[in-house]
Formats: sequence, C-alpha cells, structure tokens
Amino acid sequence: MEIMGKLRRTNMCGELNKNHIGQEVVLMGWVQKRRSLGGLIFVDLRDVTGLIQIVFDTDVNKEAFDKADSLRSEYVIAIRGKVYERQAKNPELATGEIEVYAEELRILDTAETPPIYIKDNDDVSEQMRLKYRYLDLRKPFMQRNLLMRSKTSKVIRDFLYENGFNEIETPFLAKPTPEGARDYLVPSRISPGNFYALPQSPQIYKQLLMVSGMNRYFQIVRCFRDEDLRANRQPEFTQVDIEMSFVDAEDVMELNERLIQRIFKEVKNIDIKLPLRRMSYNEAMDKYGCDKPDLRFGYELKNITHVFNNSEFNAFRSVCESGGLIKCIKVDGASDDYSKKGISKLEKFIKSHGAKGLAWLKYENGAIDSPIAKFLSEEEITQLITLLELKEKDMVFIVADKESAVNTALSALRIEIARERNLIDDNVYELVWITDFPLFEYSEEEGRYVAKHHPFTSPVDEDIEKLESAPQEVRAKAYDIVINGDEIGGGSIRITNRALQNRMFKALGFTEEEAQEKFGFLLEAFKYGVPPHGGIAFGLDRLMMLLTGATSIKDVIAFPKTQSAACLMTESPSRVTEQQLEELKIKIDE
Ligand code: AMO
Ligand code: AMP
Repeated sequence: MEIMGKLRRTNMCGELNKNHIGQEVVLMGWVQKRRSLGGLIFVDLRDVTGLIQIVFDTDVNKEAFDKADSLRSEYVIAIRGKVYERQAKNPELATGEIEVYAEELRILDTAETPPIYIKDNDDVSEQMRLKYRYLDLRKPFMQRNLLMRSKTSKVIRDFLYENGFNEIETPFLAKPTPEGARDYLVPSRISPGNFYALPQSPQIYKQLLMVSGMNRYFQIVRCFRDEDLRANRQPEFTQVDIEMSFVDAEDVMELNERLIQRIFKEVKNIDIKLPLRRMSYNEAMDKYGCDKPDLRFGYELKNITHVFNNSEFNAFRSVCESGGLIKCIKVDGASDDYSKKGISKLEKFIKSHGAKGLAWLKYENGAIDSPIAKFLSEEEITQLITLLELKEKDMVFIVADKESAVNTALSALRIEIARERNLIDDNVYELVWITDFPLFEYSEEEGRYVAKHHPFTSPVDEDIEKLESAPQEVRAKAYDIVINGDEIGGGSIRITNRALQNRMFKALGFTEEEAQEKFGFLLEAFKYGVPPHGGIAFGLDRLMMLLTGATSIKDVIAFPKTQSAACLMTESPSRVTEQQLEELKIKIDE
C-alpha cells in the first residue's frame, strides 16, 4: 500500500477534451498499453468512458517516470497530471487532441497477463470469452453494448412513467405459466416433492394486477424458458412486460409504437414515422412465407400453384393434388449471376431448410431456360411469363411442397438471396405490426390445437362462435411487432370472461379438472369484476441486438449462457451436496 494523501478522481478518461487544456486532473483506470521512448513513457489509460494518453516525462516528474516503467497491461492505476494539447493528434481516438502529463502515479493493483486481449477484434473463441467474461466485458464494444442497454432501460422507464405506468414486481418462485416452452423447476424443501416453476413470463400475474385495479403495469423482468437454444434465444432473457386496463388492441399498439419511436430517437437518434405499417398474418405468410418478414428488401413470394393443376410435370401436379403449394421468388434481371454452381449452392441451402428440391428458370431471349422446361406445356409457360411479369434475364426459383414446408424454405431462401446480393442494409430499420393472427395452431407433435400466442388471448368477437366448430379459422386479438425480420415483441387483448376462458381451455384440450388445477386461481379471479385489458412484452435482448448491431444475443447480455445453457465462468449448472439433496428428498438417478 502506498501511504500518501487521498487522490480523488476528478474526471473520466473519455470525457476529457480541448476545453480541459491547462487543468489538473486525477484519472483512474486500467493500463491499455505502455510504450517507452527514451525519456518519455506513454500509457493509454482506459476506463468505461474511453481511452486517453498519459505521458510520463523525466523532466515533469522523475519519480512518476521511474514508477511508470514497471507498468504492464491491465495494471490499475491512478494518476494526477495536467492536460496539454497533443503534438501528434490521433484522429482515431475521441480524446486524440489532448494528453495528460503525469505528475504523480499510484499503482492501485498489478495484473497478470490476461488470457484474452482487451480489444474488440481479438480472434478468441467464444468459450474463452465466456470463461473470462469479466475480461471480455472490458472490451470497448461490450461496454458500449451494456451502456446502450442501460440507457434503453432508462428511456423505457421514463416513457412508461410519463404515461401513467406503475412498476410492480412479480414472483420468480411461481406456478407453471403456459408460454409454450418447458419450465425451469425449483424444488421445495418445505414441501418435498413439490416444485415451483420459474415464470416463462409474468403473464398471469400481470393480468391479476389488472383485476386488482393497478390500471397500467410494467416490469423489466427476467423470464425463464427451458427450450432448445437457437441464435437469438437465451434460457433466461429479459422482457419489457406491459399490461393496460380499459384498452383495445388499437390503444396498446398506439402507445407501444410511441415507446419504440422514443427508444429509436433517444438511443440511436433515428426518427421513426408513426403510425407503423400494419400487415395481417395472412398477408405476411402469403408474401414472405413467415410471420416476421424482413421488409428491407423485396423478393415477395408468388403463389403459382394454380398454373400446375393439370401439369404433365409429376413433381408439381402431385403437390397440387395433395393440397400443397407451389410458390416462387423472382430475382429481377439476375439470370447471369446464377451459374450452375451458384444454383446448386442455393439448392443445398434450401434443402437444409426442409425443401425437397429447388426448381429454377431463366427468362432469356424471350424464352424459358430451365431443366424443368421440357416438362411444361406452352400454356403453362405463357401463364408463368404473364403471371410473373417476366422480363429479360429474370431469374425464378420455385419450390413445391406442403404449405408449411414451402413457406419455411422460401422465406429462408428470400433472405439468403438478399444477403448474397448485398441488399440488407444494417442502417435501415423496417418496423411492422403483424395483426390478425390465428388463435390456434395445429401441433403435429401433440396431435391437437395449441394456442398460437397463449391461452389467455382473446378471439376476435365475430369468430367466437367458431371456437368449437372451426378452430382453425378463429382469429386472435393479437399483434407482434417485427423489426428487420425479428420478432421484437408480441401481445394481445385478453379473455376476461370466465365462460369464454373455459371454452378456450377446452378447445386446447384441457379437461375441466386440469384447467381448474392449473389456472383455478385465475378463473376464480374472473368472478369478481375484471376490466377489459391487454398488453405486450418486448424481448429486450433482441431489441438490444438490433440497436447495437450485435450479431449474437450474448453480446448484449453481461453474463449469458452457452448453447447448452451453461455458464462457463461460474461453471453452472453444477452438482449439489448430498445433504442438499437429502433436504429436498431428491435422489439422482444416474
Ligand atoms: P412472447 O412469448 O411472445 O410473449 O415473448 C415476448 C418476447 O420475448 C422475446 N423472447 C425471447 N428473447 C430471448 N430469448 C428467448 N428464449 C425468448 N423468448 C421470447 C421475443 C418475444 O417477442 N406473456 C406474453 C406477452 C403478452 O402477451 O403480453 C409473452 O411472453 O422478442
Ligand atoms: P426430378 O424430376 O425429381 O429430377 O426434378 C426435376 C427438377 O425439379 C429438379 O431441378 C428438382 O430440383 C426440381 N424439383 C423436384 N421436386 C421439386 C419440388 N418439390 N419443389 C421444387 N422443385 C422440385
């Protein structure tokens, strides 16, 4: 320990600029780099706000200079010194016009050589990044991401408080909530054999808060879902969870698009025009093959099924006969860009997305060039030319299959083509509300209808009568907000009527006893005066990926989990002691 008077930090490194020239400052932070040049030692000092160059000069202070010779990367130091204009300016650095001549140096802590470099583009494995997360988080881009996330949370809170919302916490030790994923369970010690479930969302609690008369609720809250992790999913993730009383879908969308507008303005200084575009679920599926279309580029899908009703081409006719779909994507004027090799690459790609094949045709010199041309009649060809408004050198990709397979494959192909052709601009934001979702979706796996959103979503009034007779036709009062092809949030107007809620449970295949056992408390609450209500939840992590431009959801979360839901830093999940298991009356069956 160095025994001297207390040094008080006067400034953060990154906030210093030409206006500080001549001032004495005290700075504290980490040594990014040290270079010695004869009688001078240069140190880049780093804190959360940025870097600044510190100069140790034998002529300014010999003692500090001598001590600076021992500095190594990641030492923690405090310096007192004076701000000068820099001779050789560094335009790469925000503080590149100035430097600080140190008059005093204190070494607050030394450091071993870190196992990963503290710089943005080190080629280190994700494993190392996650194992040494506290070092990874020293990188400027990670600090920027976390700071932007913090700012976004503040903007959200400010907006919601201004609009009459109250922030209310709900339990983590909860009952299973049906959002469609597997629950994380927590065993109870006091009642062995019983379990809490970590909430997949606060859905039921927030509805009960509306029954309580809380009027407008929000919470920035962790949700837990034990599901197979894909690129933008985490087992615990954060929702901006919102619920409002005495509203309809329009009210919820109107308020929440203003919230999104405010976030883009304050965090990115980007103006979003309101009202946001709307698109029905059916239109999205038809034109883009998915319910979260990326609208930054065209390449809409075209349905050409009817052309092939009586086709000689077996592969297509059989699809028509079995009620499937034939859809295509036209790439304008691009036929020269697709060699045999290029096409077979796309075919491989699309097969990995479940398609059986990829047919293609080029429109060149007023004729169709295609391996399937020989199977097609004059009439089919003429129809295709007119229907697709083919022009010279247009390229068309066709997939025939079951409806869901065609849509899945072509929506992926659409994005792949746009990516290949460099049409995806990361500085453009296309926002759209997807509305008129179906209330149910058929689960092949479970052999029954499941809720497309969740079981508390209200059907559209005029469709209620079809709940039992034609469940597939019932539309929901649900809406998703999609930005650049990512579902950023989703919500709905809720069922508030006990009888209707019971019909919904029944349609979902719950017996009365099951419904009572799982949601009895909600049905009971519905007896005592329920305001009409609805809400939404945004995926904050996904929103932050968009705002920061991160390619991985892990880059916007301080301590994320791996693909196999593990934390490499703390090595969790991990074993517990025999005694702990004993107390919980749990036996591990290896
Ligand atoms: P939903 O299940 O659609 O709705 O979730 C809302 C939003 O949360 C994000 N999200 C995720 N983000 C990261 N990792 C995950 N595993 C993950 N799962 C979901 C998505 C999604 O749009 N209670 C309802 C909301 C409501 O009806 O008000 C709900 O949870 O961005
Ligand atoms: P085949 O007669 O099976 O050799 O198919 C001839 C061409 O049609 C090939 O280019 C296949 O990729 C394509 N094709 C076959 N089945 C489908 C399908 N279901 N959807 C799109 N193209 C297909």
